[in-house]
Amino acid sequence: MTLKTSLVRTFAGLAGVAVLASLANAAEPSEQHGKALAETNCAKCHATGLTGDSPHEKAPPFRTLGTRFPVDTIDEALLAKLSPKHSDMPTFEITPQQAKDIAVYIASIQPVAHGEALVAANCSPCHAIGKTGDSPHPDAPPFRTLSERYPIDALEEAFAEGIETGHPDMPSFTAEPEQIADILAYIWSVQDK
Ligand code: HEC
Ligand code: HEC
Repeated sequence: MTLKTSLVRTFAGLAGVAVLASLANAAEPSEQHGKALAETNCAKCHATGLTGDSPHEKAPPFRTLGTRFPVDTIDEALLAKLSPKHSDMPTFEITPQQAKDIAVYIASIQPVAHGEALVAANCSPCHAIGKTGDSPHPDAPPFRTLSERYPIDALEEAFAEGIETGHPDMPSFTAEPEQIADILAYIWSVQDK
């Protein structure tokens, strides 16, 4: 530890402020960097990934933060030092870049955003996954029309049983229950109506 960093830690310690353990800064907001920052600085209390409970029972899992406030304002909340109601949540010194990185990472693990990433990777070769456009595979229904065929909730069962049954062109896709929930959250968000 250099003298400078030790002084910073000392002063930060005196002020009761934790300095965010940082990594090299990237210019563009980086999900990967934000994920690493969250794992290093926040995982002691928060579930920071796609699954699991928070170690601190009052700390919301990051994947649920979108239900508390718009995820695109998380960097502002972080920069405002999160001014939490509960003293258990420490105050962090955080740079605007770090706040943006954590914010884009948190946004990426919200159910709809995560579901969109999953279907973009696994389904978009054949299905139109968005609000507009035709499916690349002529027989594959655009996802925005699925609720005309099924109650969307029934899809959960269909996925769990393996949706490939009886559809030769449709590859089998084995999904974890959380992945299924996130895919459904996304499909729900693009339904026509
Ligand atoms: C020592 C435990 C602890 C650590 C470490 C911690 N938090 Fe928290 N955090 C909490 C608790 C407890 C709450 C719930 C506070 C409340 O609901 O008032 C919370 C709440 C939050 C909230 C929601 C605030 C709201 O108004 O709903 C956000 C966002 C958050 N933390 C982000 C972070 C980030 C980002 C980090 C890492 C840089 C972090 N926390 C590190 C304990 C912690
Ligand atoms: C290789 C092409 C292909 C890929 C990749 C693909 N599908 Fe399909 N899918 C199809 C085709 C073709 C159909 C229409 C089958 C039929 O109606 O006989 C279909 C039908 C469906 C249906 C409707 C089933 C029904 O009974 O009406 C759902 C729901 C569906 N796909 C979901 C998905 C999901 C979710 C993914 C990604 C995890 C995915 N598909 C990936 C080709 C594909």
